[in-house]
Amino acid sequence: MEQINSYINKVFVEQDEVLEGVLAAINAQGMRPISVSPASGKLLTMLVAMTEAERVLEIGALGGYSGICLARGFGEKGHLTSLELEQDYAELASAHLAKAGFSGQVDYLTGPALESLAQLKNDGRTFDFFFIDADKENYENYLAACLELAENGALIVADNVLAGGSVADAGIQRQHTEAMKKFNETAARHPQLESILLPVGDGLLVSRVKK
Ligand SMILES: C[S@@+](CC[C@H](N)C(=O)[O-])C[C@H]1O[C@@H](n2cnc3c(N)ncnc32)[C@H](O)[C@@H]1O
Repeated sequence: MEQINSYINKVFVEQDEVLEGVLAAINAQGMRPISVSPASGKLLTMLVAMTEAERVLEIGALGGYSGICLARGFGEKGHLTSLELEQDYAELASAHLAKAGFSGQVDYLTGPALESLAQLKNDGRTFDFFFIDADKENYENYLAACLELAENGALIVADNVLAGGSVADAGIQRQHTEAMKKFNETAARHPQLESILLPVGDGLLVSRVKK
């Protein structure tokens, strides 16, 4: 996977000073280097642009890398709502989105994402694009909550669904691997979803909502 990913990144992803600045800041702050891969980021931009999504919800902001990639896909009317547990991370991500030119087009809700999702539902908010990239044990809960906030035809994308390739190895039974296997199977069989797993980065699940 590593070899394939570095080939894809080398051939298809151009050098990007803005995103490299985000990674450098994450490193300087001693945060974990767990942003999406460059190719996954490019794919997020393309998916938002291809679906012409305007109301995008992200779960897991970290330093703003994926947030910038998502925002690059929408036009002037686009808006990103990003859910992040840590206040410091949300502030860092917000600063990076502003630096990238999206200051008026992003809001951060801090605290446990499940609480923020319940609040968004109470507020009657809906979205046409979702990106799930936070605590893996809650992926199934996030999927259910996103479905409640989704318009018909919305896209739900989730990162790390290959769990380093371990989902395809019957001999590995780590908690993280089992959670991802269960999540993938739920998405694959869900009556309101049409889903496929793309082996880019650590695996992106792409699901289209059919309501
Ligand atoms: C893999 S990182 C996100 C990376 C980011 N999407 C990117 O590619 O730039 C996961 C993020 O989820 C956040 N997180 C973990 N548990 C959470 C929870 N229960 N609610 C909201 N955010 C959570 C972490 O603080 C971390 O910033």
